[in-house]
Amino acid sequence: MKMGTPEVRTILAIFVLVILLVAGCSQGEQVQLISPDYRNWNQTTDTVLDFTIPGHGSGLRKIYISSAASGVTTQEVNGRLFYDYPQGTQIVKEVYASAQPGADEEPAMLTVMIKDRDHPMQRGGWIWLVKNYQSEVETILDEEFCFTCHNNANEPNPYNDGNTSGQFRDFVFYPYR
Ligand code: HEC
Repeated sequence: MKMGTPEVRTILAIFVLVILLVAGCSQGEQVQLISPDYRNWNQTTDTVLDFTIPGHGSGLRKIYISSAASGVTTQEVNGRLFYDYPQGTQIVKEVYASAQPGADEEPAMLTVMIKDRDHPMQRGGWIWLVKNYQSEVETILDEEFCFTCHNNANEPNPYNDGNTSGQFRDFVFYPYR
């Protein structure tokens, strides 16, 4: 995982983006695609994600995945395993303002991946969205940075099980389990 200067640029880009979203003059297309009942879905890890990571800051994260993900397929091509999530799969990640939110505290934002291979704004077969939890504004991002960093999930990386054999995980760090 190469994350030198680009990491700093990415953090700055995210920071600017968050400001834009909070200010309400967001870039990208505004939509209403995120399923409101995502909290009933399975979570993809038991690890408490309260450590700082580039791209999503230092607040607590919780990841939920829709039941469509149970249809994920894996295929071996030249000794490498390729994951492919079904069309319509949603992965919702809540991002809280701090590492230890209060019991009733709502997340600050949602960052979301929805499998839609045919969408004009898809990157790698997914649309990449951010939802401002307060304003309820949901925006598909037409920037490259979500996708570019998530490409690291497809090679050995410092997260989850480390993906040491470099499986193509379909851009997902914490796969369906
Ligand atoms: C610089 C790297 C980086 C960038 C940029 C980034 N992410 Fe992530 N993302 C991660 C990491 C690492 C995880 C693993 C979970 C954790 O610790 O929060 C993750 C997890 C996720 C997940 C849960 C699925 C998974 O991969 O496990 C979603 C959904 C997600 N990110 C959406 C987005 C969206 C939308 C954007 C763009 C606004 C984005 N991410 C930008 C690094 C990044």
